[in-house]
Amino acid sequence: MTTTPFFNNQTLETIYKRHSIRNFTDKQVAEADIRTILNAANMAPSAHNQQSWRFIVIKGEKKRELVELVNSKATEFPKSSSVLLRMASRSIASAPTIVAVVNTAALIKHGTKLFQIDRDQAFDFFRTMEIQSSAAAVQNLLLAATSLGLATVWLGILFLIKDEVLTLLGEPQGEFMAVIPIGYAAKESKGPEKRPLELIIKHYT
Ligand SMILES: Cc1cc2nc3c(=O)[nH]c(=O)nc-3n(C[C@H](O)[C@H](O)[C@H](O)COP(=O)(O)O)c2cc1C
Repeated sequence: MTTTPFFNNQTLETIYKRHSIRNFTDKQVAEADIRTILNAANMAPSAHNQQSWRFIVIKGEKKRELVELVNSKATEFPKSSSVLLRMASRSIASAPTIVAVVNTAALIKHGTKLFQIDRDQAFDFFRTMEIQSSAAAVQNLLLAATSLGLATVWLGILFLIKDEVLTLLGEPQGEFMAVIPIGYAAKESKGPEKRPLELIIKHYT
């Protein structure tokens, strides 16, 4: 188990405290907390400062529709991926609030005009930049939630049914980034062991 070093530094402590949680209690998340979390997500760096993300807050009937969609589409996939889709639908059902993050493609449009490079290269470049920017926003969101005592999990598996998910959320032109259940952990988790730095760092001195 990865041990949490004591830093006496709230940011580092929050980073170490965040673990993916897939089951939640019934306790609702305060609207003010959701706003705090989304403001933190919105503070992320973004390529060309395009801030080309959108956050969709999902509760109630729309959440139930999302659970149904994921369950019904899961039957169309081979067992290994269908199991993950069903797991995701259980996490969505269990969390009081869900946030979906969608890319708007604003960076792709503006950047391609501005940079005057080959069209395919520009598309590849700006799409990657947009995904990376939104990933930074998602990480801000996860850490802000953790700092408020909330639990989250980044659900990427819904990418497999992204067109249906985006249509359900009224964002058919968007690009799927993440669906994030947010709530209070039913059970705390220490998360999986992280690989030791020695295996992943290369030094040139
Ligand atoms: C891009 C991305 C996609 C992910 N998709 C899923 C997913 O679909 N379902 C899931 O249960 N967890 C998903 N996760 C969470 C990972 O499984 C989790 O981060 C990893 O196991 C490490 O655990 P930790 O978050 O507790 O450190 C995803 C994480 C990332 C960054």
